[in-house]
This record gives sequence, structure tokens and C-alpha cells, in this order.
Amino acid sequence: MRIIDLPADRHDEVVELWRVSNLLAPWNDPYADIRMAMDNPTSTVLVGLDGNDIIASAMVGYEGHRGWVFYVAVDPGRRGRGLGEEIMDAAFDWLENLGAVKMQLLIRQGNEGVQAFYERIGFRVEPVIMMSKRIRPPANEL
Ligand SMILES: CC(C)(COP(=O)(O)OP(=O)(O)OC[C@H]1O[C@@H](n2cnc3c(N)ncnc32)[C@H](O)[C@@H]1OP(=O)(O)O)[C@@H](O)C(=O)NCCC(=O)NCCS
Repeated sequence: MRIIDLPADRHDEVVELWRVSNLLAPWNDPYADIRMAMDNPTSTVLVGLDGNDIIASAMVGYEGHRGWVFYVAVDPGRRGRGLGEEIMDAAFDWLENLGAVKMQLLIRQGNEGVQAFYERIGFRVEPVIMMSKRIRPPANEL
């Protein structure tokens, strides 16, 4: 798998990967999420290619201390072959190069099964409560 930054003309394809991977949520506009990630020098969307097909993704962002990963997905027909680990390794390297001290991610309620994948590749559960406050309304309330 060859890993590159998402090309500007291929947003639809990665959104389709996220759709079939159940990663789309009504409160997020995936196209706006991509634009924000691609327009900022401390974030990007990494995609894995098989030939010219987009088969994996990971959005990465560095907030000045920690690194975050979102939209981790592998094409459903190609799972279980190490590609998830490979795209996460690329995300790790990307964040390490920017100087991030830790790589973090969130797992949605209902998708707890994926915790075993992350534990297998070296992540651990943190003893924290995640809290948030809206600055802009969610996409489905605009
Ligand atoms: C999660 C996901 C990216 C994993 O991709 P993948 O290519 O299947 O993962 P890999 O083949 O690289 O797996 C790496 C290791 O994790 C293990 N693993 C993968 N998925 C697992 C699961 N659901 N439960 C337990 N172990 C799992 C693999 O067996 C492998 O272990 P091994 O090294 O001992 O063989 C993929 O299942 C996916 O796209 N899921 C839907 C989207 C999603 O939920 N993303 C996460 C959002 S937080």
C-alpha cells in the first residue's frame, strides 16, 4: 500500500470509504472535515492506495502537544491483512515528525469492538472523561 495525502480531487472517494465503514455521523460534515484538515499545515488526511484505488484512510492533526487521529478506515474487502496497522503507523510517523508527544483517538459508543484492534497495535485506554463545548453548531443543525 502506498500512502499519500488525499488529493484535492478525490474527496468523494474517501467519503465513500467512510460511509461503508460506518464512520459518517449526521453532526459532522465529512467534506468540511476534510477541507479543515487539508487547509491547515498541522493536519492532513492520509490515504492508502492499492494501484489507484483508495483503500485506507486516517485523518491526523497536531494541536501543539498531542496528536489526534480520526476517520481510521480500511476498505471492508481488505480488512484483516495488516492495512489498518500500516495506515496507523503512517499516522504515527506523521505526528512524530511534527513533534507530538502522544497519539490519541476517540471510539464512539456502539463501536467498542474496535478497541481490540487499537490495543493490538499498542494503544491503551486512558483514565479520562472526555468533555466538550460547541463553538459552532453541529452540521445537522445548520
Ligand atoms: C479498524 C480497522 C481500521 C482495522 O483495519 P484492519 O486492516 O482490519 O486491521 P489490521 O489487519 O491491520 O489488524 C491489526 C491487528 O489488529 C487485529 N484486529 C483488527 N481488527 C480487530 C478487531 N475488530 N478485533 C480484534 N482484533 C482486531 C488484527 O487481527 C491484527 O492483529 P495481528 O497483528 O495479531 O494479526 C477496520 O476494521 C475498519 O475500517 N473498521 C471500520 C471503521 C472503524 O471502526 N474505524 C475505527 C474508528 S475509531
